[in-house]
Parts: sequence; C-alpha cells; structure tokens
Amino acid sequence: MALSTPKVLVTGACGQIGSELVPELRKTYAKENVIATDIKEPPPELKETGPFEWLDVTNRKSIGHIIKKYQVDIIYHLAAILSAKGEQNPSLAWQVNMIGTYNILELARELGIKQVFIPSSIAVFGPETPKVMTPQETILLPKTMYGITKVAGELLGEYYVRRFGLDVRGCRYPGIISYKTPPGGGTTDYAVAIFHEAIKNKKYTCFLREDTVLPMMYMPDCLKAAIQLMETEASRLKHHTNFNVAAMSFSPAELATEIKKYIPEFEIIYQPDERQAIAETWPRSIDDSAAREEWGWQPDYDLPRMVEDMVRNLMANLNK
Ligand code: NAD
Ligand code: SER
Repeated sequence: MALSTPKVLVTGACGQIGSELVPELRKTYAKENVIATDIKEPPPELKETGPFEWLDVTNRKSIGHIIKKYQVDIIYHLAAILSAKGEQNPSLAWQVNMIGTYNILELARELGIKQVFIPSSIAVFGPETPKVMTPQETILLPKTMYGITKVAGELLGEYYVRRFGLDVRGCRYPGIISYKTPPGGGTTDYAVAIFHEAIKNKKYTCFLREDTVLPMMYMPDCLKAAIQLMETEASRLKHHTNFNVAAMSFSPAELATEIKKYIPEFEIIYQPDERQAIAETWPRSIDDSAAREEWGWQPDYDLPRMVEDMVRNLMANLNK
C-alpha cells in the first residue's frame, strides 16, 4: 500500500523564517500539502503556491479546526513575538509565545500529530550564562519576556516528549540573516538592516555598540537545520527541543568591514538603544557539539560567504 504524503501546517508562515521555509517544504511535500497560516496578509509567493489560512495561534479552537480540515500530520510552529517587540509588549509576547505554544502542543497530543518543530533561541541564555562557546547544558536565566517564553517552550516541549511520547523538536537559533523578508522585531535585526542601508544609502546608524559580538546564521543554514533535525531518526536524539546550533559570530564593526569590501564608501555610526541591554545578556559564541553529534549539524555559511551572497542578491533585486 502506498504511503500518503504528510500534510504540514506552518504557523507564523509570513515571517522572516516562514516565508522561506514554506517554499522549501512545498518542494519536499508537494505544494498542496503545506498549509501556510498567519494573522497577516501573505506575500503572493506564499498565497499563490499552495493553501493559506488566517490563523491566530492564541485561538485553540481555530487551530483545531485547521488541523482537522487538512488532516495535518506535522506542525512547524513559527508564530512568535521576538525579543525587542516582546519588551515593548510583554503581555502580547506571553500570549502568543506561551499560550500559542501550549495550544499547539495540546492539540498535537489530542489530535495525534506525528511531529512538531518549535524553534527556540539564544535568548534562553542570560548574563549568568558562560558567554564564550556557551555549552548545551548551562544556566538558563533570561532577562527578556521573549527569553522566558523560549525557556518555558523548550521545557514544555520536552515534557510532552517524555510524558505523552509526542515527537517535539527544536533548536536554539542565533540571529537569522536573510534578504527576502525583513525580520520581525528582534535584537539581531541590525544585521539585516545594515545591508539594505549600505546598498541604498551607503550609510547605516546601528542600534548596537560596535563591539557587540553575537552568534548569527544565514537563512539557508537556518532552513537546513530545521529540515535536517526533523528528518533525523528519533532514536538518535538524546536532546529534543533545545539544541544549540551555531554558524558564525561577529560584531557590527566586523560586519561593516566585510560589507566595505563590496561597498567601499559605506559608513556606519553607532547609536545604541534599549536593544543594547538585551544583546549584552546573550552569548558571543555557541557550542553546538550535541547537534553535530546527534543529527550531523554543520553550517555551510561563514561571515565572508554570507556577506558575498547577501550583497549579490540584494543588488540584483535592486536592479530588477
Ligand atoms: P517573525 O517575527 O518574522 O515572524 C513571526 C510571524 O508570526 C509573523 O508573520 C507574525 O505575523 C506571526 N504572528 C504573530 N502573532 C501571531 C498570532 N497570534 N498567531 C499567528 N501568527 C502570529 O519571526 P521569525 O524570525 O520568522 O521567527 C520564527 C520563529 O523562529 C520564532 O519562534 C522565533 O522565536 C524563532 N527565532 C527566530 C530568530 C530570528 O533571528 N529570526 C532567531 C531565533 C529564533
Ligand atoms: N533574533 C532573535 C531576536 O533578536 C533571537 O531569537 O529576538
């Protein structure tokens, strides 16, 4: 008997990661089997290439309705409020990140979902955590509402693995850099905005101090991590919801130097704002040996390769 192709639900599909993950998943599972959902208007590339549904993850009934309507097997739960936006509205961050995640896990358990992916973040760490090569098992005392919901999400996911046998997986993404969809209100957003401003105006005012080193990752590696982790044989995993993953680390000054290789007249000035305090609570680099050992994680992009690709693609888009 032929096995039917799994049906995949993606929440928060119109965000920075979802807008690139959905097309990747539609290549693997066929476009009609990947249901993109969000509370905002989808870009044409999402709406015209497969099903799209309006879905607020704080509304459990609506999620249940969509899962049943499409007979969903796998969920990529991306809907969230990120760190900077979460500090502007902590109550919204709690509602979306915590209640939303609890709703997804409860329905996944009740309705027999086969796999759930819930990304975590370097925001789970705090000032007490070792900052260099931050270990997999370490102090998790975040100071942002976003970080608090991410730690709780990891623990809740792990609880559903152990208590109910639900297959929940996730990794702690660093700042994600991409050129297709703007980031949604994080502390690492400068590392995307800098490219747009360097190409358009040759100038950028950075909201972090020049020497603020943070872990970062280019979008192709971000997508690869999600898909590779989800495809790994379950018996290989000792961890489930909290894998450290790393690709590169740099400061705004180091990124600007790399961009100047392509745009020599580029100038950067620094006007740190409230996001500096958030960045200072996060690690400078990450030890991802558990991900490497348990599911073969390896990034493809370092700083020079990422900058070359970003500049080339953004310049090509501008000349279209
Ligand atoms: P984003 O802010 O770009 O997108 C989030 C999406 O969620 C948006 O399209 C938004 O409309 C949607 N959303 C907000 N409230 C909602 C609700 N109530 N119901 C349904 N949808 C809602 O975020 P992203 O960068 O794509 O992040 C996706 C996931 O990856 C999040 O869990 C985030 O914490 C995690 N992550 C992202 C980064 C990064 O740098 N982008 C780093 C670490 C972890
Ligand atoms: N890039 C995210 C943020 O800055 C980290 O999860 O909020």
